[in-house]
This record gives sequence, structure tokens and C-alpha cells, in this order.
Amino acid sequence: MRRFEGKRVIVTGGASGIGKATVARFAAEGAAVVLTDIDGAAASAAATQIARETGATIHSFTADVSVKADDLATRQFALEKMGDIDILVNNAGIFYEDRFEDITEARWDAILAVDLKGSFLMSQAVVPYFKGKRSGVIINMASTNGLVGERNYSHYNAAKAGVVLLTKTLALELGPFNIRVNCVCPGYIATDSAVGINTPEFIKDYIEHKIPLRRLGKAEEVASVIAFLASDDASFVHGDAIVIDGGQLAE
Ligand SMILES: NC(=O)c1ccc[n+]([C@@H]2O[C@H](COP(=O)([O-])OP(=O)(O)OC[C@H]3O[C@@H](n4cnc5c(N)ncnc54)[C@H](O)[C@@H]3O)[C@@H](O)[C@H]2O)c1
Repeated sequence: MRRFEGKRVIVTGGASGIGKATVARFAAEGAAVVLTDIDGAAASAAATQIARETGATIHSFTADVSVKADDLATRQFALEKMGDIDILVNNAGIFYEDRFEDITEARWDAILAVDLKGSFLMSQAVVPYFKGKRSGVIINMASTNGLVGERNYSHYNAAKAGVVLLTKTLALELGPFNIRVNCVCPGYIATDSAVGINTPEFIKDYIEHKIPLRRLGKAEEVASVIAFLASDDASFVHGDAIVIDGGQLAE
């Protein structure tokens, strides 16, 4: 399938994990991609690797999604390099585990700045452009933690719940301009950073007791849903929060 032939995509936080798998998926289906990340060296390495593997055009760009000037620069860079922007994936995010009483103001601000404000600022950077051409697709990265609570993640849960409602509100405001907006809500996905914060015993117990499919998800399994939402296959899907969790929230 090459659903994105001729399409131009921005993926934030694309240097690793779900973001990198998403860039690879769009590239494999024919898109040109601007891959941004706060870690410029990792972004450049990921772009080079994916371009080599897929033959696609991938441009890397160093940007912090929580900084408005960086988001405006990302839009400018994308327009200069690709000539147009069709799809924005607001993937960049960070997570920490902290008991509520232990959360410092700095940690609270950091999570809200990257996971929620980053999606707001980057969307605000491209929406006037999308409105001008009366088309565009935005996909935000929420989480099952944006739909139900999880102990010791109140900052992260609050940010991701904000992403879900930001998505739905943008869908209301931007739908009349033919701009589709959705978000994805992954459960536990086996990226280095998500696996790295827990012990093997914790993960084994989590799989046995919480995930009906009895395994963690793969970054590629989130990327494939993002690609579906970005494609014309999802042309009437709008304002939705799609759960990708191996059945965890079924209970
Ligand atoms: N892995 C999971 O289980 C899981 C589950 C639900 C949601 N998510 C969400 O998916 C997204 C990706 O998670 P992941 O597991 O692939 O993590 P990851 O750490 O592998 O990837 C995140 C990327 O974002 C980049 N980044 C961090 N801060 C940034 C900033 N300020 N500006 C730009 N880039 C920045 C990092 O350098 C990194 O490359 C996050 O939004 C995360 O909250 C992950």
C-alpha cells in the first residue's frame, strides 16, 4: 500500500519509539516527511536510516515542541523543504512516574509543556496554513492515561486527558474547514523509554493482569493506526480518540 504518494508529513518527536515507527510507516507508503526532535543528532540518524531503508525523502529538524518559535520554524522548514504540508502528527512526549505529593512544580510544568502545550503550539503553527488551503489532517498523541487514571502519573494523565479534549475541540472548530483532527490512545507500548522506567517483574505482572492480549504493543502497531487515521480510508473519522491497548480498557 502506498497511500501517501505525494503527501507531505510532519512528525514531532520522530527520532525514536512510536514517532520513528510513524515516520517509517509514512515513508514506506510514499510520503515525504519532516522528522523533528529535541535531540537533533538522534533525529538526523533516524532520518538517514529511514531514508536509506525506504528510499523516501526525510528531512530532520531540531526543535522543542514546547517552544513557540521552534514550532513556527518547523512549519517554515517543512514548507521550504517539501513545498506543502498535508499531515501533522503531534507525537513528542515525555513521561515520569511520581507519587502525587512528590511532583515538583518543575516536573509538572515540563510534562504539561511538552505533552499538551506542544500539541497546541504546533497545531496553531500549521492551522492557518491548513485553513488557507481548506485541507489538512492533525493526529495528536494521547494515551489510555488520557481516558482513565493510573496511580503515580497524575501530571501525565492530566496532560493526556487535555490532549483528548484539545483534539475534540479542534475537530469542532476546524471540521468546517475540511481539517480532520483525531488522536490515538496507546496502552503500554514497548518503546525503550516506556520499558526502561519499569522492572521486568513489573512488566510481566502488568501483562498477566492488565492486558488481555498478554503482551505489550509494538511501536509499529501504533504507527499503522496513525497512518489509517491520516489516510483517506478514515475520511469520515473526526474528533475521535482511538484506543490501541491490547484490550486493557475493555475491563
Ligand atoms: N510507549 C508507550 O507506552 C506510550 C503509551 C501511550 C502514549 N505514548 C506517547 O507516545 C509518544 C511517544 O512515546 P515513546 O514511547 O515513543 O517515547 P520516546 O521517548 O521513544 O519518544 C519520544 C521522542 O520525543 C522526543 N522529545 C521529547 N521531548 C521533546 C520536545 N520537547 N520536543 C521535541 N521532541 C521531544 C524525544 O527526544 C524522543 O525522541 C509520547 O507522546 C508518549 O506519551 C507512549
